Amino acid sequence: MNARPHNQPSKSPAHVSIGSRSDDLSELAPGQSIALLKALHILTRDGKLNQDSRRKLKQVNHLYQLLAPSLDQLTEHSEHWTLVDHGAGKSYLGFILTDLYVRQRAPNARVIGIERRADLVERAQLLASEAGFDQMSFLALTAQESITSEQVPDPVDIVTALHACDTATDDAIRFGLHHQAKFIVLVPCCQAEVAGFLRQAKRPYDPDPLTELWRRPLHTREFGSHLTNTLRCLQLEAHGYQVRVTELVGWEHAMKNELILAERKGKPQPHAAERLNAILDRVGLPALRDRFFVPAFEQET
Ligand SMILES: C[S@@+](CC[C@H](N)C(=O)[O-])C[C@H]1O[C@@H](n2cnc3c(N)ncnc32)[C@H](O)[C@@H]1O
Repeated sequence: MNARPHNQPSKSPAHVSIGSRSDDLSELAPGQSIALLKALHILTRDGKLNQDSRRKLKQVNHLYQLLAPSLDQLTEHSEHWTLVDHGAGKSYLGFILTDLYVRQRAPNARVIGIERRADLVERAQLLASEAGFDQMSFLALTAQESITSEQVPDPVDIVTALHACDTATDDAIRFGLHHQAKFIVLVPCCQAEVAGFLRQAKRPYDPDPLTELWRRPLHTREFGSHLTNTLRCLQLEAHGYQVRVTELVGWEHAMKNELILAERKGKPQPHAAERLNAILDRVGLPALRDRFFVPAFEQET
C-alpha cells in the first residue's frame, strides 16, 4: 500500500500547484486539483470560492478525511475495491475521492455514481473522461433500481450516500445490505417519510404522554428525522454492522449534518432488531417493519 499520509500532496499531472494560494482557498486539501475544482464549478474560473461552494468543499473534503481510514483498510486487503455513491448529483464526492485517493493509492479501484437524473450522469461521465479519471463510471438509475441492477458489479465494498433525498438513503442501505458491503457511509438528507406516517397516525388527544414528543408540527418533523436515523442505525446493527454516528462538519456549515458510519462485522444482532421493532410498535408505526427490515430470525418476535 502507498504510505502517503492523507494530508500530503499527490503527484498526479492533473494537479496544479497551489503556489500562491490565499486564505480564501484554505478549504482546499493539500495537492487538491484546482483544474478539477474549476471543472466541477466548485471554484470559479478565476479560482475563487463562493459561500455555497466553500460549504460543499468543506463537507466533501471532511468526509474524505473520515472515509480515508476505511479506504486504507480496503486497499490493504485488495486494491480492487468498488465504491458506489448513491444520489451522486454532480458527483463531487466521487471526483474528490478519486482525485485525492484513488488515483494515487488504489488505481485499480472503481468509483460508481448512481444518480436518477440522466443529464447529471452524462455530465459527470464527460468530465471523468476529459479528466482521464478511468476509475469512475456513472449509472442513470434510482437507488432502488440499483439494488438488483445487473449494471452494478459485485462485490461492492463501500456504499456512500451524501444528502441523497429522503428514502434514497434507505435504498442505499438496502443496496449495501444486499451486497454485504464492508462499509456503509450515510449523511442523510430531508427524511420526510417517517414524519409523514407520524402525522397520519396523530389523534386529537392521545393518552400516551410520549406522543408529546411529536405532537406539534415542527416537532413531528424533527422527531421524525431523529427517529428515522435511529431506526437506520438499529437496522444496520441488526444486520451485523458496527455503527458510529457523528457530525460531518459544524452545524453552522450545514443543517443536514449527521454522519452514520457503519462497518460490517458479520454477526447479526438480535437485540438491535428487537429494539427496532419495539420502537416501531411504541410509536404506533408497526407498518414500517418492512421498510426497516431486519434479519428473518427477528421478524418472528
Ligand atoms: C441533494 S443532492 C446531493 C448530491 C450529492 N450527493 C452531493 O452531496 O453533492 C441529491 C441527489 O440525489 C438524487 N436523487 C434523489 N433521489 C434519488 C433516488 N431515489 N435515486 C437516485 N438518485 C436520487 C437527486 O437527483 C440529486 O441529484
